[in-house]
Amino acid sequence: MEPITVKVGLASCGLAAGAEDVYRKLEEYLGQNNESFSLKRTACIGMCFEEPVVELAGSDLGSVTLGRVNPENIISLVEEYQSGKLPSSNVILAEKSDASRNELLANQQRIVLQNCGVIDPLSLADYESRGGYQALRKALALSPGEIIAEIKDSGLRGRGGAGFSTGLKWTFAAAAKSEKKYVVCNADEGDPGAFMDRSVLEGDPHKILEGMIIGAYAMGADEGYIYCRAEYPLAIAHLKVAIEAALEKHYLGNNIMGSDFSFELHIKEGAGAFVCGEETALMQSIEGKRGMPIIRPPFPAESGLWGKPTNINNVETWANIPWILLNGAKAFRAMGTEKSPGTKVFALAGKIAGSGLIEVPMGIPLRDIIYKVGGGMKTEKPFKAVQMGGPSGGCIPAELLDTIVDYDSITATGAIMGSGGMVVMDSGTCMVDVARYFLNFTQNESCGKCTFCRIGTRRMLEILTRITEGKGVMEDIERLEDLAQNIIKGSLCGLGQTAPNPVLTTLRYFKHEYLAHIEEKRCPAGVCTALLKYEIDPDKCIGCTACARKCPVNCISGTVKQPHMIDQSKCIKCGACYKTCKFDAITKA
Ligand SMILES: Cc1cc2nc3c(=O)[nH]c(=O)nc-3n(C[C@H](O)[C@H](O)[C@H](O)COP(=O)(O)O)c2cc1C
Ligand code: SF4
Ligand code: SF4
Repeated sequence: MEPITVKVGLASCGLAAGAEDVYRKLEEYLGQNNESFSLKRTACIGMCFEEPVVELAGSDLGSVTLGRVNPENIISLVEEYQSGKLPSSNVILAEKSDASRNELLANQQRIVLQNCGVIDPLSLADYESRGGYQALRKALALSPGEIIAEIKDSGLRGRGGAGFSTGLKWTFAAAAKSEKKYVVCNADEGDPGAFMDRSVLEGDPHKILEGMIIGAYAMGADEGYIYCRAEYPLAIAHLKVAIEAALEKHYLGNNIMGSDFSFELHIKEGAGAFVCGEETALMQSIEGKRGMPIIRPPFPAESGLWGKPTNINNVETWANIPWILLNGAKAFRAMGTEKSPGTKVFALAGKIAGSGLIEVPMGIPLRDIIYKVGGGMKTEKPFKAVQMGGPSGGCIPAELLDTIVDYDSITATGAIMGSGGMVVMDSGTCMVDVARYFLNFTQNESCGKCTFCRIGTRRMLEILTRITEGKGVMEDIERLEDLAQNIIKGSLCGLGQTAPNPVLTTLRYFKHEYLAHIEEKRCPAGVCTALLKYEIDPDKCIGCTACARKCPVNCISGTVKQPHMIDQSKCIKCGACYKTCKFDAITKA
């Protein structure tokens, strides 16, 4: 009888949820029954909200994925599966059963993530068993020009945010005349709420290597860097193992696969500054200088690392390359829309039931992402907006939920596709506060070189803070709009040029919330602490005293079985009473 394969998701999300303990428990148990089982490590399948996740395969039941397992229940679940029964609980996906959440995957199309959560990311043999390095083999039999033509024909657009044509970018780098050229993988990923690149690096590191080796061959580069933030230790560890294995197998290094082509690859750990994702700052950082943007032109394709032609692509962009070479530009174009072919990986976060990683064809409506792929809202509260594109992006409101997801349609809403972070917000979110949060982020991350970015964002932040504290005046709206335009015009790099976007989109779609804060000194979502007021409804209060006992500043008074009162002059608006009252007697307004 075939052994049963037990795969444990050990990516960062799994480890954070306790997957290592589950793995150890299985190791202990399966070690005593090692003929019947084979235990494997894998990374994230995307359902971060169900971690720790374990997949079972090898019985007549087909593949069954279990979620939210723990060391206490995992053995009995495995035994149930082994005895031919669908485990009685914790099933999230089951190949041959309807009693699962298979529909969450049904609307996805996986090419970038095709191996994530499937293979052991530390095993080159696993990668090869899924067609790994076949694209490189094919590429080496083609001329560089033929490869670039294929990438150009595919219509692939850079997944790092701007959506620039990858084939065109490669053409520029290939055309540059130089003895020395570099390729770089941008794995800086600094957007709040984004973890797509980290998951791909952790789950399928060889795919990035293969994409980069093919790109280097096509553009005539013999050296490359993966610029990865040091806060991604697991991704870096997996990349190091992959590089060693690829060197040993001659997929990397001198005379790759017996050809004349040689390529050396390094990892550069970044210190985690958001601005270092900007390509000129990133190159400064690799060169050992302070990561600050510099004026372009010259563009990196002409003069990049140490003055040599350099091509920089995002992790997901590189991850698409092997698939395109193996399957052809036409197959790639069969997915997505005419101007945005292919798929896109998104990190779903915030008030969505299915937070995690998804890959969908471009052109899918936002509504389907939220309600079909993401499983809808986490709470009873209705959907309010989705923030796309991180701090450079914007908030798309409920009335635009039917917008399709491609570069141009998202840009038309005032947001941007960005690198794929989607933060879902419900009616309990204050949009002025959201704008303040993102502006605070960019203001902190500004490198300080440009006056408008350095001081302009600070002034905008001060205004937004004032508004959320109920001290805003009507002229503030005009000031915000003026400052935004000047910061966009007066900033050298994309950080400053896009920093006002979250403010501009919230002003565009949620101006009434700004007005409520300014004119009525009221926060409609009940978020801005300074504007909140907790009151006790005497008709509902039964005088149980629970709130008075919980209040940290003793500002609630009243006798047992009599309506209580809050002394507003002492209340610090912590909300402890509101959360304590079981009789809905306390209102928040
Ligand atoms: C402030 C700032 C931060 C950025 N951060 C990233 C990042 O973390 N990852 C990334 O791939 N691109 C980032 N970009 C975009 C890159 O500068 C660059 O356009 C991209 O890596 C190009 O790759 P692509 O053509 O494959 O999209 C950032 C840009 C700016 C202005
Ligand atoms: S726009 Fe901001 S982050 Fe960019 S170079 Fe100027 S000061 Fe630095
Ligand atoms: S917890 Fe609610 S019901 Fe009890 S005293 Fe406070 S307000 Fe009244």
